[in-house]
Amino acid sequence: QSSPAVDVVLFGVLGDLSRRKLLPALYQLDLAGLLDESTRVVGVARQEHSNQDLVDFAKENLTQFVKDGLNEEVLSRFLARLVYQRLDFKQTDSYVDLANTVATDKERIYYFSTPPAIYGDITEGLHKADLIQPKDRVVMEKPIGHCLESSRVINDMVSKHFEENQIYRIDHYLGKETVLNLLVLRFANSLFTNNWDRNHIDHIQITVAESVGIEGRWGFYDEAGQMRDMVQNHLLQILSLLAMEPPADLSADSIRDEKLKVIKALLPITRQNIKEKTVRGQYTEGFLAGKAVPGYLEEEGANKNSNTESFVAIKAEIDNWRWTGVPFYLRTGKRMPAKHSEIVVHFKEQPHNIFKDSYADLPANKLTIRLQPDEGVELEVMNKIPGIASQMNIHENKLDLSFSETYENERVVDAYERLMLEVINGNQSLFVRRDEVEAAWMWADSIIDAWQASNDKPKPYAAGSWGPVSSISLIARDDRQWVE
Ligand code: BG6
Repeated sequence: QSSPAVDVVLFGVLGDLSRRKLLPALYQLDLAGLLDESTRVVGVARQEHSNQDLVDFAKENLTQFVKDGLNEEVLSRFLARLVYQRLDFKQTDSYVDLANTVATDKERIYYFSTPPAIYGDITEGLHKADLIQPKDRVVMEKPIGHCLESSRVINDMVSKHFEENQIYRIDHYLGKETVLNLLVLRFANSLFTNNWDRNHIDHIQITVAESVGIEGRWGFYDEAGQMRDMVQNHLLQILSLLAMEPPADLSADSIRDEKLKVIKALLPITRQNIKEKTVRGQYTEGFLAGKAVPGYLEEEGANKNSNTESFVAIKAEIDNWRWTGVPFYLRTGKRMPAKHSEIVVHFKEQPHNIFKDSYADLPANKLTIRLQPDEGVELEVMNKIPGIASQMNIHENKLDLSFSETYENERVVDAYERLMLEVINGNQSLFVRRDEVEAAWMWADSIIDAWQASNDKPKPYAAGSWGPVSSISLIARDDRQWVE
């Protein structure tokens, strides 16, 4: 599989995302033989540095972040692709310097790994230096705005000089192996395709839990909170892939059209029903893996009066033919007991139990899709316990497809590797279209507005726990419980 020769122009090459994810992803593509031999990585940042400085920086970080060790030959080939360009992003007249560095005979990928506030300046600078051709692409990292209005401003600035088919908005969850597998699970298995609706499914739970706290980025996080940082994007993307109608094919717009319909069909959560439909929490000090950890308000750089939430639980409902009456319970938080993300689809119970002599309450089947870690799919079924006893002894057991055991020779690729390759190959299926971002903001804004209007403080939960007690009541009110 070969990919076109490109110049990947990384704005913010010395930043955190670049060193942890983007440079390692590009290295892995090189290792897999997926980069054309003349593909280069042009690293752009404000500081004065030489090419050698960038090479040293890349080498140090690849050593740290490429987990399976480096291949010396590939490493030197990769490092030889790097070129450094100093640029003051806001000086839109100075982009001629960049024009002298980037290729004119290749497609160019401009990767904006900078604060979104300067996406407009970069776009303008590129335009002024005549650096945008129809085949060039731009990649935008989240957050795309803080609300619908500010996301429109950012999108407008970039859309001034890039067409929508050149814009790749990253939601890195769409590059995760298990999130992609949702399409296969749903649309390549008639067992699920034919039972995927309100007639067969009781409810769905989506949990995205992290054990990490704020990790030194309190200022950024406190402005955002878990709703903007995780729900508006990652959770809604998972939900829309889970709930969408079958797309006609795998083309970018077929998939994105269907996802958009789901987000638009979400019942609005407003000031009237905010209390019964959502819970927001903030962690207090506690223990994780036996170690004491501080509360949100005691983290480094914290404003002690912050009302920002680090946990959200929501009862979301999709008001359409397929899903009316099937709640999607979402929950996500920082400083929860473990990094643990999964989807649990609870099917409806059997209408009648012929095994009541041995098993009074037949549990419903459950399909668990383990997103991370320990990626896999698990189906809970009832099964007979082998034995001579005349009574049917039955119990609940699991059909378990663990990716690491089943595909032991395959590496689970990092989301950024796949996404980077898709951008290089010009395929937008795994990127978020503008109308999706806006529909997601519209729904999220209404919730944030209702929280602000209610003036309630987020509910405390001890670090290392599964969130505030009220998140248990949120689902218990419907006679259901979170899977743990
Ligand atoms: C990012 C959020 O988008 O996703 C972070 O900004 C979060 O707050 C991260 O920690 C989680 O990603 P992953 O891939 O580790 O689940």
